[in-house]
Amino acid sequence: MSGRLSDAWLEELRSRISLEEVVSEYVPLKQKGRRFWGCCPFHNEKTPSFSVDTETQLYYCFGCHKGGTAINFVMDMERMEFMDAVRLLAERAHMELPERSSSPGEARVSRDERERMYEANRQAARFYHSLLWKDEGAEALNYLYGRGLNDSDIRRFGLGASPKGWDGLLHHLEAEGFEPPLLEKAGLAVRRDNRWYDMFRGRVMFPIISAQGRVLGFGGRAMGDAQPKYLNTAETPIFNKRMGLYALNFAQKERSVGRLVLVEGYMDTVSLRKHGVQGVVATLGTALTEEQARLMKRYAPEVWISYDGDAAGQKAALRALDIFDVQDIPAKVIDYPEGMDPDDFVKARGLSGFEALPKHDSTSYRMIRARDGLDLSTQDGMTQYALRCCAILKKVKSPIEMENHLRRLVNETGYDREILLRQIGASPEARTAAVSRRPRTAGREPGGVEKAEQELISMLAAGLIPARMLSSGDFSDPVRQRLAQWLIDGRSVNAFIDDINEDAARETAMRALNFSPLPSDREKALEEAEGCLRTIRGSRDRQRTEEIKQKVDAVSREQKLEMLRRVDAANRESED
Ligand code: UTP
Ligand code: MN
Repeated sequence: MSGRLSDAWLEELRSRISLEEVVSEYVPLKQKGRRFWGCCPFHNEKTPSFSVDTETQLYYCFGCHKGGTAINFVMDMERMEFMDAVRLLAERAHMELPERSSSPGEARVSRDERERMYEANRQAARFYHSLLWKDEGAEALNYLYGRGLNDSDIRRFGLGASPKGWDGLLHHLEAEGFEPPLLEKAGLAVRRDNRWYDMFRGRVMFPIISAQGRVLGFGGRAMGDAQPKYLNTAETPIFNKRMGLYALNFAQKERSVGRLVLVEGYMDTVSLRKHGVQGVVATLGTALTEEQARLMKRYAPEVWISYDGDAAGQKAALRALDIFDVQDIPAKVIDYPEGMDPDDFVKARGLSGFEALPKHDSTSYRMIRARDGLDLSTQDGMTQYALRCCAILKKVKSPIEMENHLRRLVNETGYDREILLRQIGASPEARTAAVSRRPRTAGREPGGVEKAEQELISMLAAGLIPARMLSSGDFSDPVRQRLAQWLIDGRSVNAFIDDINEDAARETAMRALNFSPLPSDREKALEEAEGCLRTIRGSRDRQRTEEIKQKVDAVSREQKLEMLRRVDAANRESED
């Protein structure tokens, strides 16, 4: 996360920032003891459960459990990346960002130069847009009308036209004081034989705008059959195709929608949005990357993959599902009928048509695709289908989901559920639950161990118990384990939190640091700590016993099956 910044530099930044000051610019706060309280900006509430701890310089909401450092707060509020939040806070603290950067695109480009590139792009976007309303842009304007857009759509997305000649934009921007080498670096100009030319010529222009409202680059669509159909800004110091998404500037204001719709194209984005679909974003002429998936996670808890309904789109949807699955992002897929793309579909059927389309969960969609290329009216086709589905179902962890998909597969294929389960070789948990619905063995009160671990960490962080009482091995959860070790080593909590880049891990850590109520003095804390350790160790012993019992069970089940097989074989022999 903080890769290019030294610990010392970040420590200096933290020491110069007052979290309560930063937060109170967004949230009215009232002081009570060492904490300030206010209504949480991250979820809806009427009574304040959001707090800023003036001593630890960490915020935490006891309602929704979001929490972190000043950097995290700015990231969450402004939906910024780590480095952008640091930049903003550094400005506030009058600190210079150390130059020198590790990411390749950023190499040796000063902040001033980047600012100039943003400005050049902004002026280019305005120039392209203004051209639409002049004679030179008439063809592009008619093209856009022909695609079903009106003037207000065109303004809303800042669409434009690039001039047909060789240097229309160059002339304009040079007159505004921009040097050609900078325009080349920003991807607006190309150099050939020591002369510069416009990068985009005679195309319909889609500006790609960041969540912070900066123009990062462009997609330019050819109007005729010119190749390539879409020309995109090349990698530049301010534009990275793998990291960005089209229309994030809109998605930024649509968090409450609760899901993003991911499409393949610029036109799909504009068209769905024109028809009233919110939260639509697109990749930038490349397949979905992990970086983009992680970025999307910050905007919504769920993603609907809405790719073209042709074979290429379907394949791409499966690949996107793989990426979302790895990142643990719930994703659904819209399967457009008859090879339509989202633009065609919404034009034909409108918003209500879009809303009525089924959104298939990951497993269901994979099962739909498993039919491709098979003739299910033949036994062979059906067998192949069942085998493909069983391979897909291997990955399902939740017993309830397993049960739903299994029921459908039994219906579709006519195979016996026990046979299908054996083919799946499902995880023992899913298997037992789906076969016998035996209630799971009751443990102690739920969350007992988790609470004990949280309380220990909070007491340790507050200096109520000595570090030598604990070892990281006492903790079952990997985040709490690392946090405990960090505290035992006497290192800064804030540095730990700033180094986390997973929202879920940060929440786990912040929950552990804010256990409440804590014992009022050290003596009571020692007693509490001993109780917590007893809970943790007791549960571990019970868990071991349980594991051994299950192993024994499993062995005897295998033996039972083996016996049945023998009986079966004997029967067959006697029939012959
Ligand atoms: P499509 O060819 O499906 O374009 O490519 P589209 O969005 O349906 O466009 P229209 O409706 O024909 O105008 C989908 C996306 O793939 C990228 C672009 O981002 C495009 O929006 N692409 C496509 C390129 O980058 N270059 C190309 O030559 C083609
Ligand atoms: Mn398309």
